[in-house]
Formats: sequence, C-alpha cells, structure tokens
Amino acid sequence: MRLENKTALITGAASGIGQATAERFAEEGARVIVTDIDSDDGQELAEALTADGAEAEFSDLDVTDSEAFHTVVDAVAETHGLDIIVNNAGVGHPSARLEDTDDSARDFVIDVNIKGVWNGCHAALPHMKEQGRGAIVNVGSLASILGLPKQAAYSLSKGAVLNLTRAIAAEAGPYGVRANTVCPGFTDTSLLEQYLAAQDDPEAVREAMAEEYPLKRLGEPEEIADAILFLASDESSFVSGHGLVVDGGFSTC
Ligand code: NAI
Repeated sequence: MRLENKTALITGAASGIGQATAERFAEEGARVIVTDIDSDDGQELAEALTADGAEAEFSDLDVTDSEAFHTVVDAVAETHGLDIIVNNAGVGHPSARLEDTDDSARDFVIDVNIKGVWNGCHAALPHMKEQGRGAIVNVGSLASILGLPKQAAYSLSKGAVLNLTRAIAAEAGPYGVRANTVCPGFTDTSLLEQYLAAQDDPEAVREAMAEEYPLKRLGEPEEIADAILFLASDESSFVSGHGLVVDGGFSTC
C-alpha cells in the first residue's frame, strides 16, 4: 500500500475530486481527515470509509477561515502527525467577460481558491518542516496554465495556485517538504454540472467540450485522484514545484 502509516488531510472532500481522493487514499492505507463545509456528505463519507476498514474522520472546515484551519491542522498534527495535505476545495463563478464580472464573484473565487490554499499551506508548513517531511498537493486547473475566456477570475485564482506552489517548493524543499499542483481539465463533478447548468443547452455544450479533447471525453474524478495520489506518495519523492496537467491531452493541441 502506497500510503501506509501516512495521515492525509483533504479539503473539499465531500464531493467530486476531493471525495475520489479520500477514497483512493483510504484504499492505499492512509488515515484520512475528510474536511468540507458540507458536513452531511463529509460525515457520511468518513463513516463509509471507516465501515470499509479505513481510518477516517470528518472535520467541518471552511478553508477561508484561517484560524479554524490552523486549529484543525494543529490538532491532526499533534495527534497523528501530518504527512499530506491536499488543498482541493475550490469554487467557480458564472461565465462572464471580465468587465461584466462583479467584485463579489471575483472576491468569492479569490477567497476560496487562493486564500483557502494559502491558509492550508500556512497551517501545515510549520508542522511539516518540524517533522522534516511532508507532501503538499494543491489542486489547480487548466486555468493555471491557460487563460480561459469568460473565466478571468477563476483563471486569476488558479494561476496563483500554481505559482504559490512553486514558491513553497523552493522555500520548504530544504526541510524535506515537497509541494506540487495538479491541473485537471474538465472533470465530471458538481462543479462542472453548475457550469453546464448555466448554459442554454447543457448537453450540447458538454458534448462539444468532450469533442475538443483528443480522448473525446471529459475526465473522471478518479483519474484526477490518481494523479494526486502520485504526487502525495513517495513514488514522486524527487518531484517538487511541478504542475501535473491531467487533461486528456487538451492543452497540447
Ligand atoms: P465539487 O463542487 O464537486 O467539490 C468541491 C468541494 O469543495 C465541495 O464538497 C464543496 O462543499 C467544497 N467547498 C466549497 N467551498 C469550500 C470552502 N470554503 N471550504 C471548504 N470546502 C469548500 O468540485 P470539484 O470539481 O471536485 O472541484 C475540486 C477542485 O478541482 C476545485 O479546486 C476545482 O477548482 C478543481 N477543478 C475542477 C475541475 C472540473 O472540471 N471539475 C477542472 C479543474 C479544476
């Protein structure tokens, strides 16, 4: 098992990519700390993982609350040690040109996608540096490496995640801590459903999106979870500061 005796905290783990990551990590022997603002689904997931024989617990955590993030991380680190943090929680905004995007939509995305990842790294790094080991995996997007039209605020936030992660890799590497970003293409989750629901013909848009991918389909959360697992595990022990694009080849053509 690739994560035996490791403790991993995952944000936004009640749904989509975070949920698939929690399930994958549990299969690989990790103790999983499921966190989310959705306490019903988060609690249910932790219970399901436990029923399947894994060690899992749920913490209600809004990643925008720096103080709460520190409290949760400190408690996990003191009780178990903290080997892995996956800063996955993220939100989108309605598609709109930059000049039609209001400040509240911009600030919401910045608060969750940038400050939330910052808060997680801020809370985890002191423990990981003291331990002399740790793996940080931040979830970016294709919007970390491409500027998506009508998604300026989201692109702003995800570009920041990639470069923040590089800075952390440079800063924390001497302490044995690695930091990497996974950059998924469109993946079948509730975030994508929200995006599609705002389109005139969601099914036609979904099919058109899939057609643009060389693999002629969108990603599955489990496929992103596998990439996160690689970067969290010792298999990537010499990989740091990397942005791993998982997009079925979309960004190459
Ligand atoms: P999702 O909507 O299925 O899951 C996101 C989870 O984050 C939800 O459980 C939600 O309750 C939680 N969350 C939202 N705000 C939170 C907060 N303030 N504090 C804690 N938890 C919060 O979405 P999905 O697709 O699984 O997204 C996961 C990550 O993947 C996000 O960072 C997203 O930007 C990124 N991503 C998703 C893509 C996609 O096509 N689905 C593509 C590229 C990146």
